Amino acid sequence: MRNPGKNIKIAVNNHMVSYNDEGPDDAPVIIFIHGFPLNKSMWNEQLEALENSFRVIAYDIRGHGYSEEGNEEFSIELFTNDLICLMDELKIVKTILCGLSMGGYIALNAIEKYPRRFNALILCDTSCAADAPEAKAKRKKAIENIEKNGVEKYADESLINLFAPESFATMKEEIADVREMIIKTSRQTLCSTLRALSVRLETCDKLPDINVPVLILVGRKDKITPPTVALMMHEKIKDSLLHIIRHAGHLSNIENSYEFNEQLRTFIEASKSKFNSRQF
Ligand code: MLT
Repeated sequence: MRNPGKNIKIAVNNHMVSYNDEGPDDAPVIIFIHGFPLNKSMWNEQLEALENSFRVIAYDIRGHGYSEEGNEEFSIELFTNDLICLMDELKIVKTILCGLSMGGYIALNAIEKYPRRFNALILCDTSCAADAPEAKAKRKKAIENIEKNGVEKYADESLINLFAPESFATMKEEIADVREMIIKTSRQTLCSTLRALSVRLETCDKLPDINVPVLILVGRKDKITPPTVALMMHEKIKDSLLHIIRHAGHLSNIENSYEFNEQLRTFIEASKSKFNSRQF
């Protein structure tokens, strides 16, 4: 029996997961995976915009938002298993997957390992590459800084890279919300996730094998995973679509939700006929 609503708890892969589940029972499912170090509430605008036509689910990755950390060592593979176990618990055989940044790393890992579980992919402000040595060194430094100076300082430094410069004048409320999401994340989750991100494997070699409709979205001013990275993925994924979101940095779904949602809706409506024939 489905249990729709907000902040629902469910036992998944040895920990409690918190998720939102809205929209009609029999509509196509879209699962949203958030970026680091945010939580499912970053997708509120998308859930609201799409819940009349789709069953929309956003969940908190372990340790983030209201989901428990559990006892296992964090890795993108563990997060992928959590996603598949959540789908199994919710009896979702196939879904459209939309992931931003870390959510995109999980989505790319998931489609590589479980291609038959997905109808379509939306990859937002993300990358298929592994961390280069300089990125690994930066993560190590960030862990040291969090342990030494605490989460608030880390949050303030992160915001500079997450948003486009113009957003600091126009999106004060949204920036305050994101800051709140970061400072509510425990030091342990921040450090364990930074370690997991720094050892993640690349998925670029597997992009040509993706056999579902793919939309790639990226903020024009994204400093973390810039449009050049999105273009490289677009060239490797056959028939993929690429759209660059104006007035947006790394958090393109928040910074320009209007354009983001239009792209999302148009892509899903256009892909419906293709993925219906792929249902089990
Ligand atoms: C994210 O938004 O998920 C992070 O920027 C990912 C990363 O640090 O690689």
